[in-house]
Amino acid sequence: MNAIRVHQLGHAGVLRLETMDVPTPSPGQALIRMEAVGVNFIEIYHRTGLYKVQLPFTPGTEGAGTVEAVGPGVTTVRQGDRVASVNLLGSYAEYAVAPADRLVPLPDRVSTRQGAAVLLQGLTAHYLVTSTYHLQRGESCLVHAAAGGVGLLLCQMARRIGARVIGTVSTEEKAQLAREAGADDVILYTQADFETEVKRLTAGAGVQVVYDSVGRTTFAKGLNCLARRGLMVLLGQSSGPAEPVDPQILNQKGSLFLTRPSIGHYTATREELLQRSADVLGWVADGSLSVRIGHEFPLANAADAHRELESRRTTGKVLLIP
Ligand SMILES: NC(=O)c1ccc[n+]([C@@H]2O[C@H](COP(=O)([O-])OP(=O)(O)OC[C@H]3O[C@@H](n4cnc5c(N)ncnc54)[C@H](OP(=O)(O)O)[C@@H]3O)[C@@H](O)[C@H]2O)c1
Repeated sequence: MNAIRVHQLGHAGVLRLETMDVPTPSPGQALIRMEAVGVNFIEIYHRTGLYKVQLPFTPGTEGAGTVEAVGPGVTTVRQGDRVASVNLLGSYAEYAVAPADRLVPLPDRVSTRQGAAVLLQGLTAHYLVTSTYHLQRGESCLVHAAAGGVGLLLCQMARRIGARVIGTVSTEEKAQLAREAGADDVILYTQADFETEVKRLTAGAGVQVVYDSVGRTTFAKGLNCLARRGLMVLLGQSSGPAEPVDPQILNQKGSLFLTRPSIGHYTATREELLQRSADVLGWVADGSLSVRIGHEFPLANAADAHRELESRRTTGKVLLIP
């Protein structure tokens, strides 16, 4: 099979297409014939070495396709099932294995491409508005990079709850997408000071929660956008890691809360994975959650996909097609 392999850390050019054996599913695993592969920022962190992985490796954990074979003891899926997962062991490939209990069956009305495009970022947006912070109708939230993969889904889910959504984006094109996804107000944070704007838009009160996937360039100012006892959710670092924070700052700025959540801790059991997936895929199936697939690349061009994502040129989801 064809797979993308990384033998050394570095720029996008280290992603190389190679031929290797199709993996054999071990006990408890299933083998998936990949039809669409989700590209996520974490693969850039693995590729550059920001997050440690052992070399050589096949990047990627997200994707969707059809079960080709199952290992001993698997009862949750069968050959021929259409599934998606965020726990594939190297999804940048024509075939990948995953623990069978980490596979999510795809409803008939959700295409395999949609499944690959929505699962990781959709589960993320879901836990962020329901569990990390239980967002309520009438509350306000700030969503950074609102036209990104997580951002567009987060705007829609927050709006669905009835919260007021303030989004930040870098361009007018992205602003339009964020508005269509339900952002009430959009700030071009490359042109205006978002802290000043959030204070103006909330008449000085601030927002109950900041969802920050951008990190270095937004984190410190984001703390100033929070209402008393508000929650800073630092969920990512597309601009680089945030600076360390002195706990006393949280006191000074209004008895704030700070969390750095991870999808794994919010989908740790199969029950929680399936409950959240049922909501997300159900909303895609009934048309109430729109999944924007902004970019598709052939698997062989994975390096181009990374270049686009890290140079801020993408909107919505980036897929690789094996
Ligand atoms: N904690 C979790 O469970 C979890 C789950 C999923 C993703 N994440 C994290 O969330 C972050 C966003 O992920 P995503 O896949 O949805 O990506 P994304 O938001 O679609 O793409 C990144 C966006 O960040 C913005 N950005 C601002 N400064 C940037 C810079 N210097 N370089 C690149 N982009 C910059 C850009 O939007 P503008 O042009 O509008 O500024 C860009 O389009 C990543 O750090 C990812 O690892 C965390």
